Amino acid sequence: MNKNDWWKDAVVYQIYPQSFKDSNNDGIGDINGIREKIPYLKDLGVNVLWLNPIYESPMVDNGYDISDYYKIADCYGTMEDFENLLKEAHDAGIKIIMDLAVCASSIEHKWFKESKKSRDNKYSDYYIWKDPKEDGSAPNNWGSIFGSGSAWEYVEERGQYYLHLFAVEQPDLNWENPDLRNEVYENMEFWLKKGIDGFRLDSISLISKKQDFPDDPTAGENGYGSPYFGASNGPRVHEFLQEMYEKVLSKYDVMTVGEATRTPVDKALLYCQPERKELNMVFQFDHMHVDYGKFGRYSDLKFKLSDLKEAMFLWQKSLNGVGWNSLYWDNHDQPRFVSRFGNDDSKYRKLSATMLATVLFFQQGTPFIYQGDEIGMTNVAFDSIDSYKDIEAHNMYLKFSNMGLSNDEIMSYIHNKSRDNARTPMQWNSNSFAGFSCVDPWIELNPNYSKINVENDMNSDFSIHDYYKKLIKYRKGNEIVRDGDFKEIGLEDSDIFSYTRTYKGKTLLVLGSFSDKKVCYNVPNNLQKFKRELVVSNYDGNIEQNKDASTLYLRPYEALVFYMY
Ligand code: GLC
Ligand code: CA
Repeated sequence: MNKNDWWKDAVVYQIYPQSFKDSNNDGIGDINGIREKIPYLKDLGVNVLWLNPIYESPMVDNGYDISDYYKIADCYGTMEDFENLLKEAHDAGIKIIMDLAVCASSIEHKWFKESKKSRDNKYSDYYIWKDPKEDGSAPNNWGSIFGSGSAWEYVEERGQYYLHLFAVEQPDLNWENPDLRNEVYENMEFWLKKGIDGFRLDSISLISKKQDFPDDPTAGENGYGSPYFGASNGPRVHEFLQEMYEKVLSKYDVMTVGEATRTPVDKALLYCQPERKELNMVFQFDHMHVDYGKFGRYSDLKFKLSDLKEAMFLWQKSLNGVGWNSLYWDNHDQPRFVSRFGNDDSKYRKLSATMLATVLFFQQGTPFIYQGDEIGMTNVAFDSIDSYKDIEAHNMYLKFSNMGLSNDEIMSYIHNKSRDNARTPMQWNSNSFAGFSCVDPWIELNPNYSKINVENDMNSDFSIHDYYKKLIKYRKGNEIVRDGDFKEIGLEDSDIFSYTRTYKGKTLLVLGSFSDKKVCYNVPNNLQKFKRELVVSNYDGNIEQNKDASTLYLRPYEALVFYMY
């Protein structure tokens, strides 16, 4: 392994600063809160933190709408706090990567304020402006990803529309403009010179738009097409990233992970093949699409295990030896993984959370833990839409109401899929406000915090946290896990997730049951000749099997990892 490839041995912990730890009791998590928890993170064993945006922002999209890329938002603290955080993390052996959100900025950014004034000032072309059609309507039929109607907004002063793939307050930056690109690179240098260790590149597959801005011919009943149609993996995205690499990233020993929405695996390779000099890895979405329904992401469908395996196995096989995977079950945009892919009833919550962690961590790639996953935090179901904070949830509520859906139906989708599922405050203990703060937090707590919290978990006989610790320890420097070939087993099996990893004749067999009943697993013939040593298990270390050990009986949500020799 190349020594600059340290990120291959990394385990990343994602922090949503707003909801992690509030140090000054204003109800909002902050940088000094993160500093307080460095010992906790070090003890868990993670060695990289990814911070969601902490820059100055009017917080329409919780910080992804940035008004100054060089400033820390007041609610999170000061630049000095950030520098202290970076130093203390580094002292603890933990690196920090920042979110680089440059597909769009905030309308409050000075570039936009200038840009909208006229067609011929320095910043006029920093955004994507288009003339209206002859009848005055928007330049094309793209709808906003957040479901708020057209992706175009008219501005009187310029007599033109600007493009916003997300919220109206998030105008897309014009990457065609070299001055804009240089501003981005300069900003990256600013943070890298402070000593940060890399970037998570937000919505990066959407930065290059087809320049003829074609209508999406598959527009839905409401007339809006998908902006992905003209923006995902656009014509110049790789040229831009190669330029970014050459001008900035190549000079630093950093890690990069791009958010690659709507990117099939063959296209993902273009981002992460090392010889192409773009990014180290991308976040794939295929496995996040397995429970999409007639309204897309907002749905109450249950996934099929075979679909989930198909998606994950495809990425494992396709990137094997040529690229690198990022491994995740959830993040700040997704529901909690134990509720979505496991079973959050009290009986099986811990078992299913640890099983899911196991089948994820032994795949090839860099694992990402989202805050609270390590104690099995669950989805939340607020009664009223008024308790939700996420702009997407509100836009969707409105959109579905206009379509005539009942409140109950809409709320069931929101309970399942709202991004706020992941954004409720971190549950540290059972004190009031869960030890997150001493006042009402910016978003309500998940009421289950009195039972599910870090303190309870770590003091219990079966601690998810301790299990994560073991997984992280096991991975460290393990060549089979890092470099081993991946082989899928039993794609069609509707209960068991199974695969092997093999490196220089040494094999790990990984099994996880997605069933709440006992299920049989027939060890594949070619593996029966090996001796097996159990190295990881989320039960008591005993194995239930038949006499010649050719069939294993997996208990509900059991995870087993064998070293075969
Ligand atoms: C990314 C972020 C998401 C944000 C969106 C728009 O997808 O992960 O949270 O809302 O970009 O900026
Ligand atoms: Ca605070």
